[in-house]
Amino acid sequence: MCGIVGAVAQRNIVPVLVQGLRRLEYRGYDSCGVAVIVDGVARCARSVSRVADLEQKILDSQLLGETGIAHTRWATHGAPVTHNAHPIFSHETIALVHNGIIENHEILREGLCENGYKFVTQTDSEVIAHLIYSVYKNDLFAAVRAAVKQLHGAYAIAVFSTDQPHLVCCARGGSPLVVGLGKSENFLASDALALAGSTNRLIFLKEGDVVELTLDRVRIADCNGDLVQRQVHTVNTYSSAVELGPYQHFMHKEIFEQPRAISDTIAHIDAFDPELFGAGARDVFNKIDSLLILACGTSYYSGLTAKYWLESIAKIPTQVEIASEYRYRDSVPNHRSLVVVISQSGETADTLAGLKHANELGHLHTMAICNVEGSAIVRLTALRFLTHAGTEIGVASTKAFTTQLVALFVLSVTLEWLRGHADSSLLAQHLKQLRHLPAALNSVLSLEPQIIAWAEEFSSKENVLFLGRGMHYPIALEGALKLKETSYIHAEAYPAGELKHGPLALVTEAMPVVTVAPNDMLLEKLKSNIQEVRARGGQLYVFADADTRIVNDEGLHVIRMPEHYGLLSPILHVVPLQLLAYHTACARGTDVDKPRNLAKSVTVE
Ligand code: G6P
Repeated sequence: MCGIVGAVAQRNIVPVLVQGLRRLEYRGYDSCGVAVIVDGVARCARSVSRVADLEQKILDSQLLGETGIAHTRWATHGAPVTHNAHPIFSHETIALVHNGIIENHEILREGLCENGYKFVTQTDSEVIAHLIYSVYKNDLFAAVRAAVKQLHGAYAIAVFSTDQPHLVCCARGGSPLVVGLGKSENFLASDALALAGSTNRLIFLKEGDVVELTLDRVRIADCNGDLVQRQVHTVNTYSSAVELGPYQHFMHKEIFEQPRAISDTIAHIDAFDPELFGAGARDVFNKIDSLLILACGTSYYSGLTAKYWLESIAKIPTQVEIASEYRYRDSVPNHRSLVVVISQSGETADTLAGLKHANELGHLHTMAICNVEGSAIVRLTALRFLTHAGTEIGVASTKAFTTQLVALFVLSVTLEWLRGHADSSLLAQHLKQLRHLPAALNSVLSLEPQIIAWAEEFSSKENVLFLGRGMHYPIALEGALKLKETSYIHAEAYPAGELKHGPLALVTEAMPVVTVAPNDMLLEKLKSNIQEVRARGGQLYVFADADTRIVNDEGLHVIRMPEHYGLLSPILHVVPLQLLAYHTACARGTDVDKPRNLAKSVTVE
């Protein structure tokens, strides 16, 4: 959601700050701003529109500076209006940007007001600026260290003081921050992606770190206030993640990256060894009698799909729950259950809170399936499996979803084996299928021209219904989610057997019905559902496996999937639905990578 960039240099740093903000745009925001020091005075530009608008304002006002901080804000406390946009000031001396939420802001505000401080924003962040000012005595590093001790909640902050040019401080407490080392210049950001192109020498800050950056020095104090050295990482992968290459949108690029992402995710797997999930996993897997999966959004749908695998092949009872529901309801903890949290970002507030809630209830075993090493969720779980999708920028998740499914399939097979339901030849067969998956996905991606033709037809529709059965029902849900979030067409998904219990009433020529039709044991049932739609004049669009004998006919449009893929079929069938959503959105001219009102990482409730 919110994003931070900061820099000190001996050149105009504003273009670096703006480029950093552009790279953070994908996370979602509703206002943005930048502040620099010019001759001992802070100058600032803000916008409640896009970063491009901020850039224009910067050009118009000829804003230049060698020390600066910048921010994209997702409003929580206070509306997304100009005066609430960061940077936020105290006494025109301290400028601050903040990610996260300060839980004790009201009490701090009361104390500051009693001491004569005037508040001009409705943000919780303003208390931090005033707190720093209240203890500032020409040593910003010391003031920030003193001030953050009073904060409860989550924060990543960057601060400058107008009377200390070429110096920026930052602090991390619950929200990520990275420092970038340059030559006689230094940088900071909430996401390493923002610094791609400026430096590849990065320090990933630890919880409680407070940092002072000057032109040629970076000083870090840890949570105890002791000066410490942190490891410097050379990271080159971020630059390619932020380049579109031949693609027009990141969503399109990321759909086509899926064969590579899956190869990378399974590269180290030679056997279904419990240790793939961390040291001690075998012991935990032998103790558990069930799974409780918690997640949000697309990650929730990967959990729903996995339930079919876990119960059918590993024969282990599995409950899948939306994290925001779980955290607020009374539930009965089972101490022999493994709590699995699934998250692309590892920072989603509800998933994190769901995990903490499970811990508070006394759950003993936790595991993360996550795409971001070192993220909050990974840090809080004993076991983990990292997917290697690479940075995902499009708000609509694609490659993160299919790699999560791969991870969950590996988990299912590992439990199948440990629980005595698979022999070595079955394991070898599963492994062979996994390894062939990237090639199978490439064949599915070659269906794109046919899908583009369908997308043209869909672009004029207002409602679309998706149907699936069994483990392809969650895939229908994911297809509907992809279409609604990218094209703004109302879409919903049903298990096909439920048609006659309601959605059939909606079927007319005007509403396309998309059906996922794998060649599995439910095929004949699905064919009956297809006839129910046709008999009512509905237009069916079917992704059918070979040998299903579903062929083009009046009211029945068929795209043939290259091969039937057994248990892993959901991973293949979701890809045409991603492409259908993407091309429909393009035909409608929406902002595909940054759909309105949505954010990539939902770090607030
Ligand atoms: C947001 C994103 C979705 C994502 C969901 C969960 O809604 O737009 O793409 O599926 O958050 O995010 P997570 O990072 O926990 O998987």
